[in-house]
Amino acid sequence: MFSLLLGVLYILTPTVWGDISQRASLANNLASNGSGSPYSMNVTDCPGYTLGSLQESDTGLTAHLTLAGPACNAFGLDISDLTIEVTYQSQSTLHVKVYDTANQQFTIPESVIERPAAPTTSYAGNSDLIFNYDTTPFAFWITRRSDPGAMPLFDTRTSSLPPTPIPPFNASDASTAFDGFPLVFEDQYLQVASALPYGTNIYGLGEVVASSGFRRDIGTNGGVGTIQTHWSLGVSDPIDQNLYGSHPIYIEHRYNSTTGKASASGVLLLSSAGSDIFLQTPPNSKVSLIEYRMIGGILDFYFFSGPSDAEVIAQYGSVIGYPMWQPAWGFGFHLCRWGYHNISDDRENVAQMRAAGIPLEVQWNDIDLYHAYRDFTTDPVSFPGDEVREFIQELAANHQHYIPIVDAAIAVTRNSTDVYDPFTRGVEEDVWIKNPDGSLYIAEVWPGYTVFPDWFSENMLSVWTDSLKNWSDMGVEFSGIWLDMNEPSTFCSYSCGTGANFSSVGPLTDVSSVVIGYPECYNETLWGPSGNMTVNGTSTYSCATNSTTMTMIEKRGVGAGSEEGVDLNNPPYAIHNAVGSLNQHSLASNATYSGGYVDLDVHNMFGLMEEKATHLAIQSILPEKRPFLISRSTFPSAGKWTGHWLGDNFSKWQYLYLNIQGVLQFQIYQIPMVGADTCGFNGNTDEELCNRWMQLSAFTPFYRNHNTNGALPQEPYRWDSVANASRIAIAARYAMLPYWYTLFANSSMAGIPPVRALFYEFPDEPELFNVDKQWLVGSDILVTPVLTPGASTVEGILPGRGSVIWRDWYTHAAVNATSGGNTILDAPISHINVHIRDNSALLLHQEPGYTIYETREGAYSLLVSLNAAGTAFGTAYVDDGISFPPGPSRSLTFQAAEGTLKIDSNGEYEIVQILETITVLGVQKPTQVAIQGSPVEGWTYKEATEELVVSNASVGLNGQTILVWR
Ligand code: NOJ
Repeated sequence: MFSLLLGVLYILTPTVWGDISQRASLANNLASNGSGSPYSMNVTDCPGYTLGSLQESDTGLTAHLTLAGPACNAFGLDISDLTIEVTYQSQSTLHVKVYDTANQQFTIPESVIERPAAPTTSYAGNSDLIFNYDTTPFAFWITRRSDPGAMPLFDTRTSSLPPTPIPPFNASDASTAFDGFPLVFEDQYLQVASALPYGTNIYGLGEVVASSGFRRDIGTNGGVGTIQTHWSLGVSDPIDQNLYGSHPIYIEHRYNSTTGKASASGVLLLSSAGSDIFLQTPPNSKVSLIEYRMIGGILDFYFFSGPSDAEVIAQYGSVIGYPMWQPAWGFGFHLCRWGYHNISDDRENVAQMRAAGIPLEVQWNDIDLYHAYRDFTTDPVSFPGDEVREFIQELAANHQHYIPIVDAAIAVTRNSTDVYDPFTRGVEEDVWIKNPDGSLYIAEVWPGYTVFPDWFSENMLSVWTDSLKNWSDMGVEFSGIWLDMNEPSTFCSYSCGTGANFSSVGPLTDVSSVVIGYPECYNETLWGPSGNMTVNGTSTYSCATNSTTMTMIEKRGVGAGSEEGVDLNNPPYAIHNAVGSLNQHSLASNATYSGGYVDLDVHNMFGLMEEKATHLAIQSILPEKRPFLISRSTFPSAGKWTGHWLGDNFSKWQYLYLNIQGVLQFQIYQIPMVGADTCGFNGNTDEELCNRWMQLSAFTPFYRNHNTNGALPQEPYRWDSVANASRIAIAARYAMLPYWYTLFANSSMAGIPPVRALFYEFPDEPELFNVDKQWLVGSDILVTPVLTPGASTVEGILPGRGSVIWRDWYTHAAVNATSGGNTILDAPISHINVHIRDNSALLLHQEPGYTIYETREGAYSLLVSLNAAGTAFGTAYVDDGISFPPGPSRSLTFQAAEGTLKIDSNGEYEIVQILETITVLGVQKPTQVAIQGSPVEGWTYKEATEELVVSNASVGLNGQTILVWR
């Protein structure tokens, strides 16, 4: 049976598994360890490697690595002959690739992620980074050329470090003997560790909702701080576990307390293998460690020299690709819920939003739209195609948009009379994922039995494109697409429907359950069942939150794979997958793609491949326009094709806070268009939480209110205070649109993150390294939201240690800030603190309109915030906001010094809107104001805010303008 299985695998998966029969015989020859496993499961015995046959070139070096002693076969079979290639990719990026010389291990195909071309210039002699190595045992370390004596940025000379006790997965698991850090390169297990400065600052490595916050926990004496597992999983935002996406990239922000200076570097391990990444500090050790344990693939490292955090992110982008261009309308407010049951619900929403004066840019539909929960359909009764078309056209006439959901699973037809073209066409064109025996892999999702797209199949893109196109032709004239359940998610284990009677399982019926339970802060005694939190005209908001503790699901013990040889479903090393076996809740790891790829190797890239295909499909359906996509499961380079929402969060105050770390993480991952389900998805929200959340999300890139099925409605018009808070926040957001748009252009052109942690801009201020309750939009807008119930003030740091003048967005008053510590700011309900940095110049829309289109049609204003020296600087990128590839554009620079503001304008794009108002903050009262040398009448001055307002500047933005005040 075993050899039969191997034979089948060999035929089906030659590219991936190579000479499996040889491995099988090796495995059979291994001494039994008594547990029935052929593997020793003890990496401390692993011999490491010796480096030889070194060849240096202009761009780097190559060498061979041979096993330095008897194989340990810890969780697989040691590979005795490896190749190392070191390439100085650019001044700031060093590529170190260690692979099996026979090329049998899985390597991410260029068709999925395009890698940078080989360098044509030699950086070996002047790169910021230097590759250093020992030959026996082989180890390497990366240093900065500018600081060769400092502790290396990455250092694999870790085999002599004391092991960290690893907490067992469950009570019966005693496999802690497994600790130790030698380099291990086996067919089913790879391990490498690097020393880091004790307790240094590490960010990234998610997707995760981390209890430690945005900064990852690196552990203290003898402790593991973080176990980050990478195995895509469709679960509701659990804390400290693997979930939708996998991003094996981190930034280290290294602070030298002697010099008081910090610098950042970054490390990407470009691997799609299921993995555990440990951040730990061995006992009595002066260093901390990062340790990678992977269940396949190769070691494909990229090192980034920074030295700023934003530069690390940009350098990462230059390797995996910069984020897609966003259409301007994508920055509008999006409204969604699971449970808009029919087209009237949609219409009602649009009307209520308009009546409440709350801008609505995009109306969304969830799976309620579908007929029998099948993708690419509309329900004939509740969403008849013609009515859907009419509704979307009404939206379009008002410059509004429509986005429907697309689930990854495609329904299987139930009998011979069942007509569902996307499935049958796919069968004809052989585009669905298979079982190892070649039969269709049948999962179970909302529509009942389903198949999953095989993104490696050559016909997949055309089947997918045609399905989307037909859907659009049928009436669903979408502007963008929402990709869900693409880990991919299923409700059963393995290929549960294979061989079943398809007519026996229909669409799920229990999805419409009502969410009972009061909102987190609900006081039934005070408020009764009606939910009005204002009692006798007085607001009674207040509650103490319970922070949610998520229970850990028990996992298999290390080394649970007791089968001989290669068992795709149970690799010998058991990663800390939150739901245990790799086959739970998701495509099983033996699922087979064309080209011989198996899910075990490509699992973490399913979402990415769907995003790429959908992006390309939308581009052909809506030619010359920028696609808009939001998707759940992501992987490096996904930002080229999609944005992301932070998945199924909870209507809890804790998740309002966790929202921020999610947005910051995805800036590192180069998927900057990101946001959370505003007001919370799971559970019932309440007025106060929704009020604060509508305001918080207005300052994050993707702004959507989304709710689960059966929960209390939470559209912003449902409560007066939330409507009011939303109008205020959206007005600020839409005014800032030119600024957001410029930040995103810089991200698409150069990978610079639009949203930043405070320490990115103020790197030498250690009090900021753990701040994740505030963030910066670009470099100049500081956001300090309320994150607790019942608050009327909020504490926040205004960074710069007194060297920066922070001015209030609404009043323009300078804040009397505490240097290096918290300042208490007023924060009554419906008010979110937003501050403007000095030395900045922001191009704004003067009058936010109801839609992005109307907003963009109106005049501009310019807000200049001078620093103590009287200078300011800013830029803006302007184009038509929709064309793809981007057409003509215009770059504006704003520079102020010594009582003069100079606006320079370059480019081909003609800006028809005028610059109506110029406001300069931090000015001594002038006696004269002139534009282009001519005195301006009617300027005003506000003493309290040192504010000069030229409200009738009325200048064009296609040439140079000079404003002078004396
Ligand atoms: C799971 C998604 O995460 C959620 O946003 C959506 O509402 C449900 N699927 C139903 O489609």
